[in-house]
Amino acid sequence: MSETTTSTELDNGLPLDMIIFGGMGDLAMRKLLPALYSAFQHGTLPGSTRILSTGRQDYTRDTYLAHIEEHVRGFISKDNFDARSWDGFLQLLVYVKLDVQAAPDFSALAKAARADAQRVFYLSTAPSLFTTICDKLAATGLVDEHARVVLEKPLGTDLESAIAINEDVGRHFAESQIYRIDHYLGKETVQNLMVLRFGNSILEPLWRAPNISSVQISVAEEVGVGSRAGFYDGAGAMRDMVQNHLLQLLCIVAMEPPTSLNADAVRDEKLKVLRSLRRFKLADIARDTVRGQYVRGVSGNQAVPGYLEEKNVPQDSSTETFVALRAFVDTWRWSKVPFYLRTGKRMQRRSSRIVIEFANPPFPLFHQQGGAVANRLVIELQPEEAIKLQLMAKQPGSGMEMQQVALNLDLQSAFQQRRAEAYERLLIDVVRGRLTHFMRRDELEAAWEWADPIIDGWQQLGEKPHPYAAGTWGPSEAFALLARDGFSWFE
Ligand code: BG6
Repeated sequence: MSETTTSTELDNGLPLDMIIFGGMGDLAMRKLLPALYSAFQHGTLPGSTRILSTGRQDYTRDTYLAHIEEHVRGFISKDNFDARSWDGFLQLLVYVKLDVQAAPDFSALAKAARADAQRVFYLSTAPSLFTTICDKLAATGLVDEHARVVLEKPLGTDLESAIAINEDVGRHFAESQIYRIDHYLGKETVQNLMVLRFGNSILEPLWRAPNISSVQISVAEEVGVGSRAGFYDGAGAMRDMVQNHLLQLLCIVAMEPPTSLNADAVRDEKLKVLRSLRRFKLADIARDTVRGQYVRGVSGNQAVPGYLEEKNVPQDSSTETFVALRAFVDTWRWSKVPFYLRTGKRMQRRSSRIVIEFANPPFPLFHQQGGAVANRLVIELQPEEAIKLQLMAKQPGSGMEMQQVALNLDLQSAFQQRRAEAYERLLIDVVRGRLTHFMRRDELEAAWEWADPIIDGWQQLGEKPHPYAAGTWGPSEAFALLARDGFSWFE
């Protein structure tokens, strides 16, 4: 069952207390507890672990465990579940009644936590509570040099609020104790992107202008806003997806080779990319960005409501559920190469991919019906996990006609091993003290510095988002954005 033959205990020999604020919330039920269960089941969680879930409700041990049975089990697939390890996992769980805002101090938590433990605090609450939580943890003496804190997004709504969070948390935790989570950095295929780029020498000489003519990063979701309108309507796709997940993907595509996999070596390179992103002026915003909002349509053969008809969405909301934009990384390597980013909810299907489009051959020697087609490297991130290289080949026959064919590396069949979910991998990184796949403070702030003028510009321009029918690939303006430069979205 265990994936490792070495001891899973912590190097410092301390037992582990994982303390989840918002421990009865949606993320804890859907992602964190299933991830911790899976880590336990596969032997990657220290044997000494205890998981303390905080919440405001009254639970006895029995009613708490019944709640977990009811709300967590459904998020663990049948193939990954076994009754014996589940029973063992339940033994690790402890419920701590704690109303973060009302409690004068955290003595209830101090009583439940072990005095000699390595404490990991997972803040899965509204960010407005981060300051209070950290202040009270420190005042109760729960923050020592071993403690770590994990900050769940959204980390602010703009640069100013992100700085405030960083300052407040930073008063009690050193930067090396802070884990800002972006779950995209925990995805197997996203981590594989680093290996693709820096573990293979054939790509590096090609990985630059003018060999590369454009880069597309597209994260399409089939789901709508669901029950999250309360949060989402104040955020929109730019804050929810682009400022974090898409920019992190862009960083990995665009960064220079780091000198090691050391957290700071990698994060230094990503920071340079973020700082090299060209800032948008008002005229650029009108020309190079497209906001969209879904209206009713058909998704997966079912009629689905438009965004404005979703529960808790104000009738006159102009929040975007779709963004497409053209960005530039102003470095020697990427001079004049457009990076097209796109993300949206209620799109035709779930599909995230990165497409590197190479320059056309300088001289058209062979005939191709409909004109030359560029070579493309297509990195499928989800749900498919694949790397495809589209090349031109000769069509069989007496002529010299070309046709596009793909070299296809299907990563799911190439590697049969179990793939841990992003949250599982990242939680284990936290436990082991590995910061490489977490955002550093300066990275987060640089990402907001780039995003803020776009969001402000949209406000100044006062434009409504373009409508697009649910179940499509977004508004036509997003297609025009690429067509103008002679490109098209890769579907
Ligand atoms: C989250 C966003 O960070 O990522 C959600 O808040 C979004 O709105 C989700 O649905 C997408 O994650 P994934 O892993 O399903 O691509």
